[in-house]
Amino acid sequence: MSARILDGNALSADVRAQLAVDVAAIKARGVTPCLAVILVGDNPASAVYVRNKVAGCEKAGMRSLKFDYPADAAPKAVLDKIAELNADPSVHGILVQLPLPPQFDEKTILEAIAVGKDVDGFHAENVGRLSQGQRAFFPCTPHGVMKLLAAGDVEVCGADAVVIGRSNIVGKPMAMLLTQAGATVTVCHSQTRDLAAHTRRADILIVAIGRPLFITGEMVKPGAAVIDVGMNRIPAGQPDAGKLCGDVDFASAREVAGAITPVPGGVGPMTITMLLANTLESAQRVANTQGA
Ligand code: GUN
Repeated sequence: MSARILDGNALSADVRAQLAVDVAAIKARGVTPCLAVILVGDNPASAVYVRNKVAGCEKAGMRSLKFDYPADAAPKAVLDKIAELNADPSVHGILVQLPLPPQFDEKTILEAIAVGKDVDGFHAENVGRLSQGQRAFFPCTPHGVMKLLAAGDVEVCGADAVVIGRSNIVGKPMAMLLTQAGATVTVCHSQTRDLAAHTRRADILIVAIGRPLFITGEMVKPGAAVIDVGMNRIPAGQPDAGKLCGDVDFASAREVAGAITPVPGGVGPMTITMLLANTLESAQRVANTQGA
């Protein structure tokens, strides 16, 4: 058996086509959605992500602002910029790219962002709202995964879902969204004993551990939906060294799974798409309250 592919590029293109229509409509009401992105330091992966986010805004007809700070920037400079953006009514979304250099307290920075402009969904209030099943900005990667599951007709309600990884960005919000959708969720991590015993009984397996090709076919339940959130390079000394790969060994897993995301072209494109959707939603709230 070869799993059907959950194609993030195709779904992302569909969602972005609708976004472009909605952006044009809100612009006609005099409001141009605007995302402000703050990048601190010179992490090359972060620079690529930020470039793609800015380019995504442009393609969707949204405005973007980008603020770069050196790796030794004072946290106060970034906090001052966030305060300025919070107060600017033309800015609808604010994102600080993570990780931050060590002199920064991540929590302080994330909670300085106005809750209504927190399009990453990382502010404690948005996280709390999500945990209570209230309306909130959902973190973009797990939100994109939920869209991929829905578009791929993967039944979430009643499914046994296993999430590998407990980060604030992916693992924890992913578990909350799956729980909300009716799955029975297990969160595994680096301290989990007998990981394979968990993965082998997962109807839905979400992998976000940052270890290249870690999940192999024999760890997958036949027919499962396997969602690979990893984005790694194949280590030196292995075949295809340097090539992009996920946390899942796609070649062996696709022979066992019922549905699977590729890397690249699976979860990745959906992350930015959901960020654009959140920014548009924020702008729509503003337009509606202004009666624009
Ligand atoms: N670093 C890795 N993923 C993300 C993300 O989704 N948002 C932000 N702000 N930083 C990240």
